[in-house]
Amino acid sequence: MEFPQSDLLKSLPKQFFASLVQKVGAYTEKGADIINLGQGNPDQPTPQHIVEKLKQAGENPANHKYSPFRGQRSLRVAAATFYKREYGVHLDPEEEIAILFGGKAGLVEIPQCLLNPGDTILVPDPGYPDYWSGVELARAKMVTMPLREENDFMPDYEELAAEQLDKAKLMFLNYPNNPTGAVADKQFFDETIELARENEICVVHDFAYGGIGFDGNRPQSFLQSEGAKEVGIEIYTLSKTYNMAGWRVGFAAGNKSVIAAINLLQDHMYVSLFGAVQEAAAEALLGPQECVAELNNLYETRRNVLIDGLTKIGWQVTAPKGSFFAWLKVPEPFTSVEFADFLLEKAHIAVAPGVGFGDYGEGFVRVGLLTSAERLQEAVSRIESLEIFKK
Ligand SMILES: Cc1ncc(COP(=O)(O)O)c(C=O)c1O
Repeated sequence: MEFPQSDLLKSLPKQFFASLVQKVGAYTEKGADIINLGQGNPDQPTPQHIVEKLKQAGENPANHKYSPFRGQRSLRVAAATFYKREYGVHLDPEEEIAILFGGKAGLVEIPQCLLNPGDTILVPDPGYPDYWSGVELARAKMVTMPLREENDFMPDYEELAAEQLDKAKLMFLNYPNNPTGAVADKQFFDETIELARENEICVVHDFAYGGIGFDGNRPQSFLQSEGAKEVGIEIYTLSKTYNMAGWRVGFAAGNKSVIAAINLLQDHMYVSLFGAVQEAAAEALLGPQECVAELNNLYETRRNVLIDGLTKIGWQVTAPKGSFFAWLKVPEPFTSVEFADFLLEKAHIAVAPGVGFGDYGEGFVRVGLLTSAERLQEAVSRIESLEIFKK
């Protein structure tokens, strides 16, 4: 028998990037040497001291039992200590932090926690496609906020109609931004808080790339702005800062009522993460931080190789200020999908077409800095040899 899927499942957005993975796979199967810059999976291993902590904690029978439902208190305290140390932000580990199975879980859960079917949520375009999944699962209505190059990829709140602002209950933001590599300053968050307060909108700031900022600039946390906790939360993940994408650990921090809602939903859906993972996560947040600075340097070196290289061959590109992505303008007359296909076919380089992140992603491709400087240099050389870049 084949059982039909629920209407809810059928309504979920199609995975745009599945076709890219398929195309790349077809080339790799034929033995092509593909430089895959299309994905967002950190290439470096988790720092050794964190792995050691996992091994040690994995031996402890206490961790073989169910974890406390809302996570180990020691991890929540570690998250609070981390925010105090890194951002000067005070958080109550009992009421202002919720442990998550990675940032993605929190981002998908939040619309279900706060919205009723038909409620409006403001989402950046281009943006991380998993936001759309959460919107659909909550049967909410998405209103997109265009991120335009001329606005440094910040939303222009003036563009939102009074009615849209009135109806909106939730807003997602993400800086350093995937896919554009833009970063936000304190003024932007201050303005966001004012708007949120006036319109009673809950702000969810996705700080997945909080650990990755270039040129000596450390990314600003939303919670550093006065009043942030009154109107929203920040989602932090250990995936990028500590190369722990496979471990599935993150946390939400901020507004008590939102944290309570996340905890309530999670009480019904799961028991918390494996205790040993929680202990290792606390070690990441509290232990030596040199690994974070080293990782930043590595990404910055790679960024410079790519951006300087492409600039030299005549492709006018802008350097990202944070995240591990570069957002490159597609040369005319290509669309983003055509250009991604062209690079794959002619140069064996995979990039993500911008339109996969939303309509306003058209005209760009996203390139990950998740391979060695040598491979990025090789990518530049391959691109240089293409006819369209010959002067
Ligand atoms: C913008 C953004 N938010 C959230 C995530 C989720 O990260 P994780 O679920 O590994 O914490 C990602 C991962 O790629 C991302 O790019």
